[in-house]
Amino acid sequence: MSVPIPTGVFDLVPTPSVDEAWRSTHIWQFVEAAARSIAFRYACDEIRTPIFERAELFSRSVGDVTDIVSKEMYTFHDRGGRLLSLRPEGTAGVLRSLLTEGNLTASSIMRLFYIGPMFRYERPQAGRFRQHHQFGVELIGVAAPEQDAEIIDMLLSFYKQLGINDLSVCINSLGDLDARSKFVAALKEFLQPKLIELSEESRVRFQKNPLRILDSKSPEDQRLLENAPSILDFLSETDRSHFERVQMSLKMLGVPYQIHPKLVRGLDYYQKTVFEVTSGQLGAQNTIGGGGRYDGLIQQLGGPDCASIGFATGLERVIQTLIKQKNEALAAPPLHIVLIPMSQQESIYALRIAQAVRESGISCYVDLSYKKLKNAISKAAGMNAQFVVVIGEHEIATERLEVKKLSTGEKRTVSVETLTIFLQHALNVQNESI
Ligand code: HAM
Repeated sequence: MSVPIPTGVFDLVPTPSVDEAWRSTHIWQFVEAAARSIAFRYACDEIRTPIFERAELFSRSVGDVTDIVSKEMYTFHDRGGRLLSLRPEGTAGVLRSLLTEGNLTASSIMRLFYIGPMFRYERPQAGRFRQHHQFGVELIGVAAPEQDAEIIDMLLSFYKQLGINDLSVCINSLGDLDARSKFVAALKEFLQPKLIELSEESRVRFQKNPLRILDSKSPEDQRLLENAPSILDFLSETDRSHFERVQMSLKMLGVPYQIHPKLVRGLDYYQKTVFEVTSGQLGAQNTIGGGGRYDGLIQQLGGPDCASIGFATGLERVIQTLIKQKNEALAAPPLHIVLIPMSQQESIYALRIAQAVRESGISCYVDLSYKKLKNAISKAAGMNAQFVVVIGEHEIATERLEVKKLSTGEKRTVSVETLTIFLQHALNVQNESI
């Protein structure tokens, strides 16, 4: 009996079933390339941190009382007795890495991005996985509100480059710690008389993390929250003006947004601006990306006082949105040429020709199955090959090859020596050798 895949995770494969097209590695490569291209254009460098960290890193940053840390982390003791967690998100590891590298100062400015898997033990459902992948960006060292606008614009540029539309941007400000604790006191006072009517989950949050009650998915909770105090009324003068400048900058950059005073996000490290982007194409789990400012976090982790802001977007949700919109750029990359040696005798000759064409950036498959010619050609057609060359004794003797274009049936005879140049022209392939 084969071993089943664990719950909540998935394989990315070249040709998944039609109704699971989002698992196609071709689409993932396309989306990851778009992320890298956007990161390059916004002057961000890549960082890669380990998939597991000391568990303490996440309790000290994401926060002990958050669902992510208290319910969803994969935490285990290694054989040396250390308590480790699979990373549930990317920000904490990036900051830990900057502190480990030891060259972060209060005046450092860094722009970093990452792409990789994150792990959360969540109840599996559409759009919610136990291993998901994020494209994330962390901009370290700039406190200006215009930076908040730029990073929101960057996230939207990523979606735009992919052709994703039907998106809404929500923003809010959580102020500083003082504003937050005053707001939490007011919220608790407001909810105290309604406590018994709140959902069970919100009653637990009332004790542990009252801010998250604002996020409740229960319609009854949302009704009870209708006249709740707004965190925006508790902001300091400085934070209020920061938030106004963020809004002004977004307007000037042409980024449409809505202010959502109940947007609190599920991680404790945020201060001031927070934001989320939702997609009209997704169901209940419709948040495609989100982020915010975490100005005090680096210091809290033992580093200098650096203002910082970041975002992460879930690639599964990005890709599922793309698929729903049926973007045309999702086709598998073409296979340029298939070489078919007629028998074992011609195989090395074919493999040597393949070496030469591959060096010029051409994709080449050598069919070493020595099947009937008809079968081999229909297999090449099934692989979406553009050209096919059959190699037998005659081709070796004359050093001339008949190149067949599969889409038209057109044939052209070229010498072995000029095959690469012929293909480069025909396919318009640049020499990619390095
Ligand atoms: P987050 O909102 O927890 O933020 O996650 C970012 C995105 O990851 C979500 O908007 C969603 O698209 C995706 N995501 C999260 N959990 C799952 C899941 N279980 N299955 C599928 N997709 C999921 C963060 O992680 C912050 N570190 C973002 C950030 C960076 N803030 C500042 N810098």
